[in-house]
Amino acid sequence: MYTVNNGLMVRLATLKSMGFSILPEGIVQADLKEGTLVRLLPDYTIDDPDMKVSIVYPGRQYLPAKTRFFIDDALNYLSQEFAAAAGRPDDIIRSPMPRRSCRCRGRAARRRPRTDATLGRPGARTAAAGDTTLRTSTSPETMPAPNATRLMLFSSRQYDGDTFTQANEAFGVELDFQEAHLDAQTAILARGFKAVCPFVNDSVDAAVLERLHEGGTRLVALRSAGFNHVDLHAAKRLGITVTRVPAYSPHAVAEHAVGMILTLNRRLHRAVARTRDGDFSLNGLLGFDLYGKTVGVIDTGIIGWVFGNIMAGFGMQVLAYDPGPPAQDLLDRGARYVGLDELLANSDIVSLHCPLLPSTYHLIDEHALARMKRGAMLINTGRGGLVESNALTGALKSGQLGHLGLDVYEEEGGLFFEDHSDSLLQDDVLARLLTFPNVTITSHQAFFTREALVEIASTTLGNVKA
Ligand code: NAI
Repeated sequence: MYTVNNGLMVRLATLKSMGFSILPEGIVQADLKEGTLVRLLPDYTIDDPDMKVSIVYPGRQYLPAKTRFFIDDALNYLSQEFAAAAGRPDDIIRSPMPRRSCRCRGRAARRRPRTDATLGRPGARTAAAGDTTLRTSTSPETMPAPNATRLMLFSSRQYDGDTFTQANEAFGVELDFQEAHLDAQTAILARGFKAVCPFVNDSVDAAVLERLHEGGTRLVALRSAGFNHVDLHAAKRLGITVTRVPAYSPHAVAEHAVGMILTLNRRLHRAVARTRDGDFSLNGLLGFDLYGKTVGVIDTGIIGWVFGNIMAGFGMQVLAYDPGPPAQDLLDRGARYVGLDELLANSDIVSLHCPLLPSTYHLIDEHALARMKRGAMLINTGRGGLVESNALTGALKSGQLGHLGLDVYEEEGGLFFEDHSDSLLQDDVLARLLTFPNVTITSHQAFFTREALVEIASTTLGNVKA
């Protein structure tokens, strides 16, 4: 069973039986009075009747986890609610769904796990290993039942411990937090653990999966949306299930991208440092109005879709590119779906929100940078591999690229999420990029909001308990 995005989970067979249309590109379109949109990645197969997909409300916040419940009931409930709300989908989203629903009463509190299959493309990357055990949550008072599922979290930090421990009160999983990255050397730590939970820069390649398998691991529960670091073919061969958190807070990532745009445009990073130093001059801080400018959104999946809506709110013209179907509400707000070349040539700001796939690797390379509007801004909160880092310095030096905001970096493994302030930066490309006044780099923190962490923890634990 596969889940895509967030929101209500729907069995495909149920949708079909309710007369929803399933288009060849992989979109399921539903129209419950106000209209709902179900998106599938175009290359996901859609012939599995047990496959679960999700409903996202155009222009609305997706449903929070606590309102999710089994879809047979949910669809009944939604039909009634859409009818009752008569054009006010906001009311539905804000209403505590389960309490007023007919057959779903009592099920609301049950967390529905979201399980992604080992579908997708292989693509393993390596990461440097740290080593020490952070802590374990299994204090004597909270010792789980003897047959409790055991989950080892790699690359754990204090915030992972805090949120997973709290969320685990509802799940009773035996948790073990390792600060070490997962790689071929550290995989042995998970011996005896049925489930492991890697993070984005852990290596989950064939060698690691084989070691995990030897140690009895049968589930890799990613605590991320991206799965480009997992060899899914190897997992399938070994019978290891891979799950992920398809969408935890698209708002977190989209809002961070907006934050980077505002920072770069109005030179906030420089202004703050200046005023702290007693320099109250404005020279060099000149920005431009976002209003009336053009933003290019590369992929309008759930994050790009939220981002596009925010930018439309600024009064920007939105140009969108996505190989999948367009988001209707973005079209309604005046967005235009165009080819990649047209988007690059006409956008004052280009923001990347696509997954890292073989086909999107180095999507922005030297040639793509040359096709961009001179002096445009590039924002990448997707994955580092989407941008050819080596091409950036030249484009910045020539002025072809006017501003650059990176939350992800091709070689971030072993660097990001760690404090390296006491050592010399060995990555010359990154070191050079950090010298530009019109570049801001954050260390993969776009996801890092309270709401997202809570959602990540509870969905991951739900996947483990499934
Ligand atoms: P999503 O699954 O909602 O959307 C993915 C989009 O990719 C869809 O619109 C789909 O049509 C498109 N797509 C599918 N195949 C494609 C192809 N071959 N070429 C180009 N586009 C293709 O994903 P979501 O949740 O919007 O996340 C997007 C990406 O953002 C993730 O893959 C992840 O890499 C990144 N991300 C970054 C975070 C951060 O902290 N910086 C946090 C979460 C996600």
